[in-house]
Amino acid sequence: MKIDIIISNEDIKEEKIKDKTVVIVDMLRATSVIVTALNNGCREVIPVVDIEEAKSIVKDNRENYVLGGERNAVKIEGFDFSNSPLEYKEDIAKDKVLVMTTTNGTKAINRAVSAKNMLIGALINAKTVAKRAVELNNDVVIINAGTYGEFSIDDFICSGYIIDCILKEIKAELTDIAVTAYYIYEQNEDVLSFIKKAKHYNTLISLGLEGDLKYCCRKDIIDMAPEFKEGKIVSE
Ligand code: MLT
Repeated sequence: MKIDIIISNEDIKEEKIKDKTVVIVDMLRATSVIVTALNNGCREVIPVVDIEEAKSIVKDNRENYVLGGERNAVKIEGFDFSNSPLEYKEDIAKDKVLVMTTTNGTKAINRAVSAKNMLIGALINAKTVAKRAVELNNDVVIINAGTYGEFSIDDFICSGYIIDCILKEIKAELTDIAVTAYYIYEQNEDVLSFIKKAKHYNTLISLGLEGDLKYCCRKDIIDMAPEFKEGKIVSE
């Protein structure tokens, strides 16, 4: 198995992901939200790029749908919830379909639909995602959603941890960038401390979202590897 990393949603190229298992990582916070909502009983998550598209999906069925997401890390006007994983508790998520749009995360998902398999990864479910990627037995490309088209420290170190988990299962061939993420994680296992200089970390701090940061930096608290299939993300 080979493992590679793409460092931002704008760098996704069809030829790089064809026949591969991709793992989408937007640990702050889109993929942490998806994993949390599904773990709390959400039936499925529909990731969309546009706000208007999200609104039109839910408009005739408000009872069964929850509308969530952000722009500039803030809740969108008319939406039910923001992009805080702490909001998607069981009483909100259970039996609902979450329609979600975010600045980078849902873009990355929609740009990677031609991959053979797509898993949704974060620190909170890294070990389970790694095991599922090994089971699928394709080469793996970890796609970092990044921040506004640019590299982000948080997604990169999360990728390093996922690689660490994969290497505990099997031997794999790493590209230089994958080796770099792995080394960085190995030297900095305390992810919350390591990402303190990250741009998006500081945006979330400025919005008073320290609780989200602490939650998203917890490792392996959820034993689920959500998968994107035919426009929807489901828990298995
Ligand atoms: C995104 O998709 O850009 C992020 O999840 C932003 C956020 O933290 O809300």
